[in-house]
Amino acid sequence: MKKYDVLVVDDEPANLQKLKRTLHGEFTVYEAGGGEEALQILRRQPVAVIITDQRMPGMSGVELLRKAIEVCPDSVRIILTGYTEVEDLMDAINQGHVHRYITKPWEPFALKEAVKRELESWELRRENERLAGELQTANAMLSRENFSLKQEVEVLRDQEKSFVFKSRAMADLLKLLDRVVKTDSTVLIQGETGTGKELLARYIHNRSLRREGAFIPVNCGAVPADLIESAFFGHRKGSFTGASDDRKGYFELADGGTLFLDEIGEAQPDLQVKLLRVLQEGEIFRVGGQKARKVNVRIITSTNRNLGQMVEQSRFRQDLFFRLNVFAIHVPPLRTRPEDVLVLAEYFLRRIGERLNKPVQGFEPDVLARLQAYSWPGNVRELENEVERLIILSDADQTITVEMLSDRLRLGDWKPDRPGDLKEQLAEMERQLILKALKEHRNNKTQTAEALGITRQTIIAKLKQYQERQF
Ligand SMILES: Nc1ncnc2c1ncn2[C@@H]1O[C@H](COP(=O)(O)OP(=O)(O)OP(=O)(O)O)[C@@H](O)[C@H]1O
Ligand SMILES: [Mg+2]
Repeated sequence: MKKYDVLVVDDEPANLQKLKRTLHGEFTVYEAGGGEEALQILRRQPVAVIITDQRMPGMSGVELLRKAIEVCPDSVRIILTGYTEVEDLMDAINQGHVHRYITKPWEPFALKEAVKRELESWELRRENERLAGELQTANAMLSRENFSLKQEVEVLRDQEKSFVFKSRAMADLLKLLDRVVKTDSTVLIQGETGTGKELLARYIHNRSLRREGAFIPVNCGAVPADLIESAFFGHRKGSFTGASDDRKGYFELADGGTLFLDEIGEAQPDLQVKLLRVLQEGEIFRVGGQKARKVNVRIITSTNRNLGQMVEQSRFRQDLFFRLNVFAIHVPPLRTRPEDVLVLAEYFLRRIGERLNKPVQGFEPDVLARLQAYSWPGNVRELENEVERLIILSDADQTITVEMLSDRLRLGDWKPDRPGDLKEQLAEMERQLILKALKEHRNNKTQTAEALGITRQTIIAKLKQYQERQF
């Protein structure tokens, strides 16, 4: 434990000495011979703990502690009292003016332990208040008043952030999505990191009948365990320390709109149970509230994990999985849709160039070839970051050259994550060659097989393997 400041107060010099001796070493001890002197010290020097005798001439211990609250509100207040006088303290204890009383005569060891225990729960209280404060700030940012503003920004950003693609795979995916955008169906978006899952979730919301409502994104792995209930379902004023107002949770904020449960694979068991309940009942209870509230929310979830596999391994609830897996889509990794790389690169060049106020001419042909050949383990996000880096490195109106590319792109890319594993590198090489050949033969498997000197069945088997490997 940290070395905290303690103020001891007693009118008997011998008692004061004993207190000092007991606490000295583990605490920094200040002393006062009476109430007035104690208050003077506190005005100069707030302390973590005040220990005072109850019976003192002039000002009693309880009186002192009540006054001390004004000078030094955030402290542990302990009173030393005769056994028969405890009754007199009950009011002060019930009002929270006194945290603990210790009857006389006291044992040094017991006193020290009592002080430590009080400090521990004080530290806990502070931590709770801090967390509740953080949650409040987060909720305040999402509160209705701020909301219309936030939404406007969101829509603007969304207009600016168009969904860019050229590949057949993405066109098919969006066509598939068109079937559900206008419904209230729950959508599960799976895909590797950086493939555009959140962007797609917004795309769905903005085209749905709920587009006038809120889009509330929540990172399921980032809500602290003890705040889950309050964060998702809200709370009533006074239901726990720091709950100074009624607050809406994410479900109520998303009422009439869309709740985007991001990283659902990271949701702890406790959260999984609670989500399941709402999805089944369609209603929520605020913490400390008695009344069930109906909420009308469309759920979109996303994860870069394989949820089905997590269910098999008992790491994700099967019943919740069934509820979420109503309409599942899989965003393909960027390396399987090389046509998208170039349009995305051009798009980012223009958009980021505008944002950084630095119009860059374009890419040299060599650069485009490298961009297209690279495997993009971080997908579209990695591409976006690479382009931003290139813009920062280049002069206005310059054309981007190969020398400017990051090493991993410039030096080629046969599995940069795990160099050394020859088998993996060969498999990767094979994969890239097959995909390239397929592209050249416009996905005609028979022609591709002929060109590569393997059977059509092998190609089909390999493609199936690659699909599975994406997850
Ligand atoms: N098709 C696209 N067109 C334009 N921008 C895109 C596209 N796909 C992704 N992006 C951009 O790439 C970045 C990453 O996308 P997003 O955050 O949606 O990915 P994600 O799949 O949610 O990633 P993670 O799993 O890491 O959370 C964002 O800046 C997004 O705007
Ligand atoms: Mg995301």
